[in-house]
Amino acid sequence: MTRTVSVIGAGIGAQHLTGYAALPDDYRIHSICDLDAERGQAAADAHDGCRYIQDFKDVLADPDVDIVDICLPPHLHFSAIMEALDAGKIVVCEKPLVASLAEVDQLAEKVAQTDGIVAPVFQYRYGLGTAQLLALIEAGLAGKCYAGTLETHWDRDAAYYAIPWRGTWKGERGGALLGHAIHIHDLLPWLLAPVAQVFADTATRVNDIEVEDCAALSLRMGDGALITSSVTLGSAGNTSRMRLNFEGFTVESDHAPYSLAAKPWHFTARAPTTQAQIDDVLADVTEAKTGFVGMFEALADALDGNGGREVTLEDGRRSLEFVTAVYASAKANAPVTLPLGRDHPMYGGWVPEG
Ligand SMILES: NC(=O)c1ccc[n+]([C@@H]2O[C@H](COP(=O)([O-])OP(=O)(O)OC[C@H]3O[C@@H](n4cnc5c(N)ncnc54)[C@H](O)[C@@H]3O)[C@@H](O)[C@H]2O)c1
Repeated sequence: MTRTVSVIGAGIGAQHLTGYAALPDDYRIHSICDLDAERGQAAADAHDGCRYIQDFKDVLADPDVDIVDICLPPHLHFSAIMEALDAGKIVVCEKPLVASLAEVDQLAEKVAQTDGIVAPVFQYRYGLGTAQLLALIEAGLAGKCYAGTLETHWDRDAAYYAIPWRGTWKGERGGALLGHAIHIHDLLPWLLAPVAQVFADTATRVNDIEVEDCAALSLRMGDGALITSSVTLGSAGNTSRMRLNFEGFTVESDHAPYSLAAKPWHFTARAPTTQAQIDDVLADVTEAKTGFVGMFEALADALDGNGGREVTLEDGRRSLEFVTAVYASAKANAPVTLPLGRDHPMYGGWVPEG
């Protein structure tokens, strides 16, 4: 089925439009909405039939729009999602979905009341590299994961933080952990098991901003795997990397910062698993749509009744629970175990008072 989509916010939203445009059987682009007419019109002009709309309310009122894809600054996500659900729209929303476990639980209640759908954005999941790893796990060649490392080593300077909402607790709601490393951290529970414990240290060392731009995390996964995650926005260039040591092989991801899974990943067998067994499985995994295209394809499949690969509201909640635990651990300088209850002091949010 083909659904019409309006993208709200023409920053990263312009790339979402390109993603939808690559799937013409699943999506028809209706419009791009942005308060900034020049930016919005430029994004609209890049796609046949795409209208520019300035007022979000006009999008919500239009019965021709099936899907509202929210690419607004983080502090606007919660209210925009609630309004879009009330208007009966299917909602896609950029990360970070909202700013607390309390807000995500309110979204879940609204979803139940309106029979709605909220699809958070985690496009790093999609691509050949992750498809290869999932195939090897499914083939029974991985075994348990012992330990691994994650790196989010990116470069962000003062020009990046010139946009007023960035770098502030009020506008961005968090720093590198919420904005940049959130993608690679989403891969962990998806590939391994829920996070059981986090010990986090954070610091602001690179830019003159309120929120953290460096972090060192030590994680214990629900299956016992021990993972360390190193995060900085003060690297020479931009590199992401995941390296996981399973019983049957060690996998190292590609290092592309914004499309970690686009290219094949590197798998090295570990006895008694042989490289030939691994190569046999990988021979059947030759292509997978990547990034936003892969994510929107999985969403379309789910909307058509063939779910399983889409990002769900539960995934969005799990990501926010992890972020909450990280900030709680950094504040207390102590390990925090998950899951977090509704009585957790940061259930209502991690943004510092004042
Ligand atoms: N998934 C990813 O890889 C990725 C990458 C970049 C940004 N993001 C996320 O996407 C979101 C947007 O980030 P960005 O970098 O594109 O921000 P941005 O500031 O560049 O763009 C946001 C746009 O929203 C518009 N806007 C603000 N309020 C509006 C309103 N009420 N109605 C209509 N338009 C309005 C602004 O004019 C602006 O053009 C953030 O949540 C960010 O974290 C995700």
